[in-house]
Amino acid sequence: MFKDVISFIQETYKTKSFIPLHEPRFIGNEKKYLNECIDSTFVSSVGKFVDEFEAKIANYTGAKYAVATSNGTSALHIALILAEVKGDDEVITQPLTFVATCNAISYCGAKPLFIDVDKDTMGLSPSALKGFLDKNTIITNQQCINNKTGKVIKACVPMHTFGHPCRIDEIRVICDQYYINVIEDAAESLGSFYKDKHTGTFGQVGVMSFNGNKIITAGGGGCIVTDNEALAKQAKYLTTTAKVPHKWEYNHDMIGYNYRMPNLNAALMVAQLEQIDKFLLNKRELTNAYESFFSGADIKFIKEPKDSKSNYWLNAIILKDKQQRDLFLDETNSASVMTRPTWVLMNKLPMFKEAQCTDLTNAEWLEERVVNIPSSVTAV
Ligand SMILES: Cc1ncc(COP(=O)(O)O)c(C=O)c1O
Repeated sequence: MFKDVISFIQETYKTKSFIPLHEPRFIGNEKKYLNECIDSTFVSSVGKFVDEFEAKIANYTGAKYAVATSNGTSALHIALILAEVKGDDEVITQPLTFVATCNAISYCGAKPLFIDVDKDTMGLSPSALKGFLDKNTIITNQQCINNKTGKVIKACVPMHTFGHPCRIDEIRVICDQYYINVIEDAAESLGSFYKDKHTGTFGQVGVMSFNGNKIITAGGGGCIVTDNEALAKQAKYLTTTAKVPHKWEYNHDMIGYNYRMPNLNAALMVAQLEQIDKFLLNKRELTNAYESFFSGADIKFIKEPKDSKSNYWLNAIILKDKQQRDLFLDETNSASVMTRPTWVLMNKLPMFKEAQCTDLTNAEWLEERVVNIPSSVTAV
């Protein structure tokens, strides 16, 4: 039934062997910089590539400061600590996200509170957010208290799903009114802009992931971006075991974390960042090809939302219903064309099933129909 889709993807990637969803491309200075690391012996948490990467990613995103981390999950954990999220607090997020968003909230001892997404962006819905806060919270001593639980809603973590920006400016305005910190989960959206501003730079803090499946990769890696110098300093300090700076003394004045990005991984990142514009252009060509292929079909291709420039990290389509979705997943994966449904909604996972939720009609609708299709950079 979906033979034409399978043939189109096989022709696009010029192969009938396995086509992954998103594989990395190492076609620049990756080996050169890795060799430099090895020759210098600076392979671990100190080295010139870590500093270079932090400066370059700050410059690329337009953030004043960037702190490299071991992965996106650790970046999220630290970002929540910076927002002073503690046990007993609540953190708003969307049910349609990767589990790392909610895991990081749990690492702080806090509870997620799920609010619906918009259908077009697949990200947190500002109108659902405002509707919930207006009806269910009161402000006391500049804190937003959830009427139902009596707990403080300390932060909100919207996510830019598959690289498509959510309505982050509206979310920030609403959260400011309610004294809620915004931490943007921009793990998937390096290279995506909303109203010409890079995703991850709207909240007090933004986080990114450079896992192997992302648009560019460090193997494993992440970063925290912020315009706030004090927060950036604290992020560096917390990710480097809270070591008090000193020439020889090993002294730590609080519980810290070993969340540093090793120089080896940063070397990969510097080389990959040099190619981001080329990758983005290539991915947009692929998107255009998908868009015209699906234009006449029953299957709807998901385009970048209004006012956005998406990195189209993972291209996505909408099938008629769950039955069609499962047929599509079965046929494509059987033909070695990797496709994937969205994540199971977070509120359905055993760890989060007790969490408070708003009406989640849009998230549930998307969960039943959306499928990601191969999105790697084609031959360049
Ligand atoms: C939305 C989202 N948040 C967080 C993460 C966590 O990043 P990492 O895998 O680098 O820990 C990822 C991806 O992996 C993600 O897609």
